[in-house]
Amino acid sequence: MKQLKKSKRARRSAPVVPEIYRTDLGRMYAGTIEDALAGPVLSKAKGKVNLIVTSPPFPLVTKKQYGNETGETYLRWLQDLAPRLVELLTPDGSIVLEIGNAWVEGIPAMSTLPLEALLAFKKAGELYLCQHAICHNPARLPGPAAWVTVKRMRLKDTFTHVWWMSRTPWPKADNRRVLLPYSADMKRLLAKKTYNAGRRPSGHVISEEGFFADHGGSISANVIDLDTTARLPGSLLKLTGTTWDARYRDYCKAHDVPPHPARMQQGLPAFFIEYLTDKNDLVFDPFAGSNTTGAVAEELARRWIAIEARADYAEGSKGRFDRFTASPDLPKAIRKGSRNAAPAR
Ligand SMILES: C[S@@+](CC[C@H](N)C(=O)[O-])C[C@H]1O[C@@H](n2cnc3c(N)ncnc32)[C@H](O)[C@@H]1O
Repeated sequence: MKQLKKSKRARRSAPVVPEIYRTDLGRMYAGTIEDALAGPVLSKAKGKVNLIVTSPPFPLVTKKQYGNETGETYLRWLQDLAPRLVELLTPDGSIVLEIGNAWVEGIPAMSTLPLEALLAFKKAGELYLCQHAICHNPARLPGPAAWVTVKRMRLKDTFTHVWWMSRTPWPKADNRRVLLPYSADMKRLLAKKTYNAGRRPSGHVISEEGFFADHGGSISANVIDLDTTARLPGSLLKLTGTTWDARYRDYCKAHDVPPHPARMQQGLPAFFIEYLTDKNDLVFDPFAGSNTTGAVAEELARRWIAIEARADYAEGSKGRFDRFTASPDLPKAIRKGSRNAAPAR
């Protein structure tokens, strides 16, 4: 009886993390991940999440609009979250964290904080690093401007770190789900069925017939290039890159909410959702921003949960879903998505 009273009290005092909207497959909540972890929204999801895929606030030298933590505080904050996020995973589930590069204030030197934070997260969560991937976005604007475009002494920074981690070295994963189209050379080889077999200077021995089998595409490298629609699953091709994102921006404009300033491109969550989960699995993004993850999960027929600290970003993320943008009282341009906007990151 005492126990029952205690748990009722706990439930009453749990912070409220309101649901902002729901779709056929998922729910978007506005609140911090800390509050969501303390309340009923996520306690029901413990042990049931197949994939956490997220881009946490990046470690910054100065604070950005959405209040990123800086330096040591950032590292400790992310590390403290690790065990609580890991608890949500199924035994063969995965967690994929994307963190960009950071620079030391005032000098042309990179901060090692992003890598330290990833390492601290991995250790605190007692996770295996299944693979370190790079997400390459050549369309990014040149930066940091002082060193790249003004003094011309550093190279354009165009990649983010993506750490795929798991509680086991054997999480669910199948690289045949994320094959890339064969190159023109490989297509010719498959058609002609001739090539030079034998030992290569690298020491690899190429067998007489090893390359004759058509496996439906080539195995993806661990550099995920966002510059190609070849990466996108068929179901996402109906509204590609700019158009998909423009529909979101138009929706934000029409509803007077700010568009998220650091949105992921759909290719990144799409890649890991297809690679690491099955249809109807549960995907979770604790730092959802404009809910790119949820929208992509929905398209790929996965269930999803998304948490975003800022209610206005959560509200604007409705613009990623047909059910909100297809409403007849919205201007036609928003329903379709105009083509005038470039994706931001
Ligand atoms: C890099 S952005 C994510 C962008 C997102 N992937 C997208 O495509 O729009 C990180 C987000 O985390 C949110 N955030 C920061 N601290 C948070 C917290 N404690 N709990 C939940 N969300 C938080 C920020 O408001 C921001 O929108």
